[in-house]
Amino acid sequence: MPLIALLPGDGIGPEVVEEARRVLAALDLGLTFEEGLVGGAAYAAEGHPLPPATLALAERADAVLFGAVGDPAFDNLDRALRPEQAVLGLRKQLGLFANLRPARLFPGLEDASALRPEVAGTIDLVIVRELTGDVYFGEKGTRTTSAGLRQGFDVMAYDEEEVRRIARVGFETARGRSGRLCSVDKANVLETSQLWRDVVVAVAADYPDVALTHMYVDNAAMQLVRAPGQFDVIVTGNLFGDILSDQASMCAGSIGMLPSAALNGTGKGMFEPIHGSAPDIAGQGKANPCAAILSAAMLLRHSLGQDAAADRVEAAVAAALTGGARTADLGGATTTREMGEAVLAAL
Ligand code: NAI
Ligand code: MG
Repeated sequence: MPLIALLPGDGIGPEVVEEARRVLAALDLGLTFEEGLVGGAAYAAEGHPLPPATLALAERADAVLFGAVGDPAFDNLDRALRPEQAVLGLRKQLGLFANLRPARLFPGLEDASALRPEVAGTIDLVIVRELTGDVYFGEKGTRTTSAGLRQGFDVMAYDEEEVRRIARVGFETARGRSGRLCSVDKANVLETSQLWRDVVVAVAADYPDVALTHMYVDNAAMQLVRAPGQFDVIVTGNLFGDILSDQASMCAGSIGMLPSAALNGTGKGMFEPIHGSAPDIAGQGKANPCAAILSAAMLLRHSLGQDAAADRVEAAVAAALTGGARTADLGGATTTREMGEAVLAAL
């Protein structure tokens, strides 16, 4: 019986994770659930945003369904104790180096996109972002220049194995979709990107069925809003992926619609909506649970090998929307629970 670790966290996290849990439970797959404390909720109870028992649960489980962390009450805490550290700690401890962020527009939501409806309707892509390297994890610090000025620095670095393993995830993802992969870098300027491109081209030899293209990141940012339909799978580094995936998500409509997966190559993964704890609407039944429910669908697909069940959940979300269910972020008045009910009814 697969064990799912539920880490609801703060703000709207518990509200949306509960709807996702109900959808998973309704599939009759014999899943078991165990809940752990994380984020501000964990700090309040245990004095740490990622208590050892939560980490042990995440390590023991077959997959982790995560809500969101972040609580304005703890904004003045030391950085190491802030709720957000729990996400970084889990990624690091579980070795989750690959972040998959699909962005697609569900039928009927064209008006919710920041793009013109006829452009927005063409978005259906996945960004594969490297998650444990790059400037976020390179050498960093502040020093004094010879002119006596304070200087901050963050080193961008990738070794070839780090690039190889994320490239493979990119090619595999493309193989499972339309067979097109766009590698995004800044190879005209950065040494890191030169190596990135060399390695991606070498890995491509193992995937003759995938059509590989390359694009500079600044152009990719422009193309994502100009003609997003040209992309199917994008593979890129941590920094570029962070920015491009937020941009793509806004093209696709509400932040309340977008799921994500963080994977380590073993099948184990952490699945979470891309949104945060939304303290402005927490506890009011206004949160859109679709991103969490679609994250549960990714969990079924990537960690449990239950592709048919994942398809059913995604179809049920589409059907609930087509049926007229709209939470406030989509311009309606459907509550979190009612949206969950609409998805369950469609299942
Ligand atoms: P946010 O994503 O929590 O909220 C941004 C805006 O989107 C808010 O107006 C919110 O009401 C709305 N929104 C978000 N999710 C929604 C949903 N499911 N349905 C309807 N509306 C939704 O980002 P913000 O405000 O920048 O951050 C709030 C807290 O969340 C901070 O403490 C931040 O650090 C944390 N955070 C945590 C993340 C995580 O746990 N992975 C990711 C992003 C932020
Ligand atoms: Mg971000």
